[in-house]
Amino acid sequence: ASWPVITVDGPGGAGKGTLSRMLAEHFGWHFLDSGALYRITGYACLQAGVDWADEPAVAEVARQLDTRFVMGADGEVGVLYAGRDVTAVIRSEEGGRGASVVAAQPSVREALLERQRDFRQAPGLIADGRDMGTVVFPDAPLKIFLTASAEERARRRYEQLRGKGESVSLPRLLEDIKERDARDSSRAIAPLVPARDAVVIDSTATPADAVFEAVLLEASRRG
Ligand code: C5P
Repeated sequence: ASWPVITVDGPGGAGKGTLSRMLAEHFGWHFLDSGALYRITGYACLQAGVDWADEPAVAEVARQLDTRFVMGADGEVGVLYAGRDVTAVIRSEEGGRGASVVAAQPSVREALLERQRDFRQAPGLIADGRDMGTVVFPDAPLKIFLTASAEERARRRYEQLRGKGESVSLPRLLEDIKERDARDSSRAIAPLVPARDAVVIDSTATPADAVFEAVLLEASRRG
C-alpha cells in the first residue's frame, strides 16, 4: 500500500519544522525530519575523522548511520546517534553547515534515499526537507513549499538562539542564511526549488497557526 504523504519543503527558518509538527500531531501521522539525517551524517563524519569533502567516505558513513528519532515529552523530536542524544549538537549552526556541505554530494543523497522512503508508514507521513516533493516523494498528493524573506528567517533564528541563551549576531546569521540558500539552490543535485505541483506559501507576515490552517484547507480540498 502507498500511504499518504504531505511534503513540506523550503529554506531553513521558513517555519517548516513548526508546521510539520502541527500537521503530524493533527493527523496522527509519522514525521520525517530529513535535514536531521544530513546533520547526523555531518556529525558522524566528525566523529569518524572523515573529511566532509571526501564524498565516497561520507556516503559510506551515511549508509551505515546508526540513528534513531525519538519523540520527547515536549513534542520535540530527539535524535539519537549510536544510542546517544545528539539533538543539541546537530541543531547548532555548525551542524547546519556540515549538513549543507555533505548534502551537496550526489552519492550521499543516494545513500539516504531509501532510509527516507522507509518513513512512509501507516497511517501517513509528514516529510520536512528540501527535496521531499521533488525527489523523495514525487507522488505525494499534497506538496507545500514554505518560504519567507531571508531577513525574517534570520530574525526568527536570532530569537530562537537568544532564547536558548546563545549569543549571536544578527548580521552574521543573515549572512549564513544567504550563503546556505545560495548553496542549496544552486547545487546540481536536488536543488531547493518548489515542485511543479507544490502550493507555495510565504510565511514572512503570516503567523504559524494561519499557515497551518491554510494547509488544512488544501488537504481537505484534496480529500
Ligand atoms: O532542515 P535543516 O536545516 O535541518 O537542513 C540542514 C541542511 O541539510 C540544509 O541546509 C540542506 O543543505 C540539507 N538538506 C537537504 N535536503 C533535505 C533536507 C536538508 O539537502 N531534504
